[in-house]
Amino acid sequence: MKAVVIHRYGGVQVLQYEDVEQPKIQPTQLLVKVRASSVNPIDWKIRQGMLSLLTGSKFPKILGFDVAGDVVEVGSQVTRFQVGDAIYGSTSFPGGGYAEFAAIPENLATLKPRNLSNEEAAAVPLAALTALQALRDTGNIQTGQNVLINGAAGGVGSFAVQIASALGAVVTGVSSSKNLDLVKSLGADRVIDYTQQDFTKDTMQYDIIFDAVGKRSLSQTKKVLKPNGVYITTLPSPETVVQSVLTALIPGQKAKLVFEKPNAKDLLYLKELIEAGKIRAVIARTYPLQELAAAHAYSEIGRAVGKIAIAVSS
Ligand SMILES: NC(=O)c1ccc[n+]([C@@H]2O[C@H](COP(=O)([O-])OP(=O)(O)OC[C@H]3O[C@@H](n4cnc5c(N)ncnc54)[C@H](OP(=O)(O)O)[C@@H]3O)[C@@H](O)[C@H]2O)c1
Repeated sequence: MKAVVIHRYGGVQVLQYEDVEQPKIQPTQLLVKVRASSVNPIDWKIRQGMLSLLTGSKFPKILGFDVAGDVVEVGSQVTRFQVGDAIYGSTSFPGGGYAEFAAIPENLATLKPRNLSNEEAAAVPLAALTALQALRDTGNIQTGQNVLINGAAGGVGSFAVQIASALGAVVTGVSSSKNLDLVKSLGADRVIDYTQQDFTKDTMQYDIIFDAVGKRSLSQTKKVLKPNGVYITTLPSPETVVQSVLTALIPGQKAKLVFEKPNAKDLLYLKELIEAGKIRAVIARTYPLQELAAAHAYSEIGRAVGKIAIAVSS
């Protein structure tokens, strides 16, 4: 099969489109003919070697966590799927989705939302699960709460605005000027252009500040957080790690980190929201698998609007 493989860590030039053996599945896995994948910043962080303590020095590696495709083989212990099912889900760490076939653990997949294309479905898993788990599980979001999403136009942020709105929060989205209309169209009640206004100097106070792009900290957002409010970030800087430990020990404002945990139950929850028309995937650009290097380069700029989809096979 064709896949994009890395033989060492490095820049986009280490992404090689080549022939490799099709994966062999374990009893609890599905072999999926990949129709589409998507880019998440963790893919190029792994490619650059930033997570090499976790990803090790064994090569070749195929990256890419998100997959939408068709089941072509099921492991002997698989009970929820059969050959021919259209699914969406996640590979195990550290990826495998940038390929014509991928082995997907049964418990990391569910049937694809009926109203999404393969590219749209592949844009959902990692980013939308992060947004859902940050707001619902880490933040314990409640109807009527004031919630601010920083980085509202990005992969995680665009889902976070829609999920917070679907869960009944009053949502403020923060983005640059060019993305304000998009953020409003996703359901934000209020938008802040960070090039014109610093939300940490606002008069509004929030129950939850979800920093989807990890640009701020609890110290910087204290004044605009309610006394029992929570600051949640996607990026574990030394400062936020220390603050999350300290604030867990005392009453009052909290700093929390979110670590996405792929699972079929939450994918089903998202599928239901998608099929009910409450959330959708915003696709910035779609690249063919052969042009993954260009897709990574675009993601690395940090200004993608929504998600970057990878078309693998039609
Ligand atoms: N902890 C976890 O489990 C987890 C899971 C997923 C992602 N992450 C991390 O979360 C981060 C975001 O992921 P992503 O997929 O959303 O990335 P992304 O799609 O690449 O984010 C791009 C967006 O960031 C916005 N942005 C850039 N600078 C900004 C600023 N100063 N203030 C507000 N918005 C800004 C841009 O909007 P404008 O053009 O409008 O500025 C752009 O739309 C990444 O570092 C990723 O690795 C962590």
